[in-house]
Amino acid sequence: MYDQQILKILLFFAVFRSLSCQQSTQDGTVKIGERCERDRNCIPHAFCRSQMTCLCDQYYSPIPDNSMCIASAGLSCTNDLVCSSMTNAMCRQGVCACKDSYILDINNSSNCVSRPLVVGDRCQRTDECQDVFDRAMCINGRCRCITSYHFVNETGKCVSTRFLYNSCTNSYECRSLHYETVLECRNGECVSTGGQGTYAKG
Ligand SMILES: *[C@@H]1O[C@H](CO)[C@@H](O)[C@H](O)[C@H]1NC(C)=O
Ligand SMILES: *[C@@H]1O[C@H](CO)[C@@H](O)[C@H](O)[C@H]1NC(C)=O
Ligand SMILES: *[C@@H]1O[C@H](CO)[C@@H](O)[C@H](O)[C@H]1NC(C)=O
Repeated sequence: MYDQQILKILLFFAVFRSLSCQQSTQDGTVKIGERCERDRNCIPHAFCRSQMTCLCDQYYSPIPDNSMCIASAGLSCTNDLVCSSMTNAMCRQGVCACKDSYILDINNSSNCVSRPLVVGDRCQRTDECQDVFDRAMCINGRCRCITSYHFVNETGKCVSTRFLYNSCTNSYECRSLHYETVLECRNGECVSTGGQGTYAKG
């Protein structure tokens, strides 16, 4: 009878240990997309959605192997350190945001990519190109001027192309159709300078 009592106690502790052991290995370790029961099961900056799977908190995003939730644009911050898991970002007016001349990667809110500066630079959306060059589009991942516009370095914009004998106000508007000769704007009209075309296609 005494032995039975001891056995019961031992059994109790064995069961308790295995339960608490299971609990402690799970807490804070369940990755994004994996099964959970409670928020505390999930990795830091994540919660247990519908008591089913771990999901990153708002303003956090998962890394490719789902083992971490990192800061993303919009996260409240008091200094740049909070935003340091983002690329090319900083703490701006209390939230993590892209640094100047960077814009948010459409596929990853923790990543900031260079804003296009000249036509031919990388882009993800047409707005990015329009914002910088006006009459431009994002085609195959590069900013391009729309048809019958060309990029002018002096203005940093896509300007309406004026051909031979078209009216003009600046020489940079004038382009010969196949870039074979250099045109200039003279008396409000694009005329040939007689020089050979040297400028790059834009
Ligand atoms: C998103 O960008 C961040 C910062 O560059 C990077 O650490 C993270 O792995 C990226 N996430 C994905 C899913 O590629
Ligand atoms: C963003 O993701 C989409 C869909 O997965 C993909 O087609 C596209 O190429 C990606 N864009 C960039 C710039 O990585
Ligand atoms: C384009 O313009 C920038 C300044 O706006 C200048 O630094 C650069 O040399 C110019 N490039 C060409 C090819 O004219």
